[in-house]
Amino acid sequence: MLKGKNVITLLDFEKYELEELLELSFRMKEFVLSNSVPKPLTGKIVALLFEKPSTRTRASTQAAISLLGGYPMVFNKDELQWSRGEPPEDTARVLARYTSAIGARVLKHETLYTLAEYSKKPVVNLLSNLGHPLQILADYMTVKEKFGRYDVKLAFVGDGGDNILISLMEFAAKMGLEIHVASPKELRPPQDIWKRIEEEAERSGAVIEYFEDPYEAVRGVQAVYTDVWVSMGEESIAQRKIELLKNYRVTKDLMKYASKEAIFLHCLPANRGQEVDADVIDGPQSAVWDEAENRLYTAMAVFASIIP
Ligand code: CP
Ligand code: NVA
Repeated sequence: MLKGKNVITLLDFEKYELEELLELSFRMKEFVLSNSVPKPLTGKIVALLFEKPSTRTRASTQAAISLLGGYPMVFNKDELQWSRGEPPEDTARVLARYTSAIGARVLKHETLYTLAEYSKKPVVNLLSNLGHPLQILADYMTVKEKFGRYDVKLAFVGDGGDNILISLMEFAAKMGLEIHVASPKELRPPQDIWKRIEEEAERSGAVIEYFEDPYEAVRGVQAVYTDVWVSMGEESIAQRKIELLKNYRVTKDLMKYASKEAIFLHCLPANRGQEVDADVIDGPQSAVWDEAENRLYTAMAVFASIIP
């Protein structure tokens, strides 16, 4: 039972809970496609707060809550007194009086714990600097749709400190999967995060391996994943990152080293010509639009599961 549980990091979930959330996501897809969605959130209000821009997360969570019979209250930070200095603690205390859960996209991961502590309502991470759990559920839903199983080899090529990569590694570590990470030495995944993931991987039998060479990392994998080189909030270090990552673009040539059946994944938004070439993201191996669609079903599964 996940009722009342925060969804801040995937490390807080057991393997069977992640599997159950994904099974429920598949059921949600059937309900949506057959126009027969149940309404477990009737009479429930969910606050969705955004400190940073969003297209997919904002639209899919809002749609998910509405389809389930609930009402999403969406706020950009600049519309709230929070932007004028009201502390997140007080924002959480007040919003909790009107709502059954709070989703938040935040600049600093710690803010999610503050919101959870002061709202006493379940808090869902809608992206922080250290993770994006809802995205990864949609990614692995897509993997299962394409391959019939979760345990395929996946290579992430790009920034080793990327929030998507952190959640991908957490999911793999919990589920006992194999992930190859290709990044320049200067942008390796942060030590403390890598250590936590390795400890978890040891328990589950997952294989999380670092490569400096992107060609070695993608050799024989079934899924190649990348994300933007410059995440939201990193604009001041953009030039340095672009320079460091210039040999880590996902090109058609790089995709040739992966398995013949390999798919290309990207959380989006994408910069064609930077982290990925247009002929890959718009080519036959790309699964990015299914991945984006699956954000809806996984969001439905999460909110239906956690709201008491
Ligand atoms: N993938 C994703 O979270 O996209 P948005 O930033 O548009 O929400
Ligand atoms: N790493 C990206 C993901 C966007 C969905 C960012 O944080 O901007």
